[in-house]
Amino acid sequence: MSDKAILEYQGKKYEFPVTEGTEGELGINIKTLRSEAGMITLDRGYKNTGSCESAITFLNGEEGILRYRGYAIEDLAEKADFLEVAYLLIFGELPNKQQLDKFYGDIKEESEVDEEMKKILDGFPKAAHPMGVLASLTSALTAFNPGSVDVESEEDMYKAIVKILGKFPVLVAWTQRKKSSLPLNYGDDSLGYVENLHKMMFEKPGKKYNVDKSVIEALDKLLILHADHEQNCSASTVRMVGSSHAGLFASISAGISALWGPLHGGANQAVIEMLEGIKADGGDTHKFMQKAKDKDDSFRLMGFGHRVYKNFDPRAKIIKKSADEVLNGLGVEDPVLDIAKGLEKEALEDDYFVKRKLYPNVDFYSGIIYRALGIPVEMFTVMFALGRLPGWIAQWREMRLKKEPIGRPRQIYVGENLREFKPVSER
Ligand code: CMC
Repeated sequence: MSDKAILEYQGKKYEFPVTEGTEGELGINIKTLRSEAGMITLDRGYKNTGSCESAITFLNGEEGILRYRGYAIEDLAEKADFLEVAYLLIFGELPNKQQLDKFYGDIKEESEVDEEMKKILDGFPKAAHPMGVLASLTSALTAFNPGSVDVESEEDMYKAIVKILGKFPVLVAWTQRKKSSLPLNYGDDSLGYVENLHKMMFEKPGKKYNVDKSVIEALDKLLILHADHEQNCSASTVRMVGSSHAGLFASISAGISALWGPLHGGANQAVIEMLEGIKADGGDTHKFMQKAKDKDDSFRLMGFGHRVYKNFDPRAKIIKKSADEVLNGLGVEDPVLDIAKGLEKEALEDDYFVKRKLYPNVDFYSGIIYRALGIPVEMFTVMFALGRLPGWIAQWREMRLKKEPIGRPRQIYVGENLREFKPVSER
């Protein structure tokens, strides 16, 4: 196979090297396109544009494959815990017991948040969406932890990473507690990362905290399934912001804002709201399927479709099974689970969805589990953000270690040509 791609334009040929990834993916390296041919590529939504070479996550949308650092998502979801997966994503290898203990010990050392941060939280109205609050608090961490990270120094990088992993669950818990008018609290060092998060979110003053082990296991699994997804909108945002050498906390804060939108992480909240809407309307799934297909109707089937998965989303498969197990295990009956299954069944047999390769994505069933675990709907995307944190860190670290240049796309200008300025009295 030729390792060059040839572009022919107006009778002239230009050659570009082809890069092959370890899973056989091919990319045309167009670094010299503009200087040699005076052209750029145009690719709205970056549907065919690779922004980097990355060794973190492998995803094959046609075959429904997702792997973190070479490990199958199915294996990790079943056998690993969230902190091990975080270590794997960030540092490239599964930790041994000693490495994991040290990692968690260092994170725990950083699990305090400056008390002054409480004043910032106090300034938000109670009705504020938790994602906006979380993005602001994460950005504010920069003010309380100044100093730039020297990317030549492993120690400096490590310190920034354990800092954000330590403080983020506190911020997540505080956004929820603010909404529920509960006093702000701190965690318990003797608990695991996910159980500690759960305790911080749900413990009530004067009441002994107690949680079913299955709740923590289900939450852990959901976080693992969300932990990274290569160059999606929020990860690309984290890389883009970080490429200007803005700090880790500022980059993660930008990632949280990108995740918030309903086409990305905000879909988990949108799915439950949609399912509730269908239920309140009488439960006629067919009616909503018609709406989703109607090009004059802006309604979309939330939790369906994916930019990359064109066969099935392997995370959705695991989550669907988990939804049944969690609801049965906790004895929760949620009528929207039946509506969700009905919609999925109809969509999988419907020409419109089949032709466009639209399948349930990770967000279709996750909200049903979050709700069964007692997590308020507005916190769903916050839980996604916590799960995605290791991925964002790993993407940021890889980008900085590789000394990637500042991200700065080009454009094709289609506006006015040079015009003469006229003073306001003559316009
Ligand atoms: N319901 C109805 N039609 C849809 C849907 C949907 N959920 N998704 C895509 N389509 C149609 C779309 O109208 C278009 O049709 P046509 O070719 O006739 O114009 C075609 O399918 C291709 O859609 P697209 O919007 O060009 O595809 P995209 O790759 O730009 O968008 C997506 C991917 C996920 C934004 C989109 O499928 C969508 O809006 N889904 C609903 C929101 C959602 O569930 N988002 C969560 C994504 S997974 C979690 C995450 O990683 O954030």
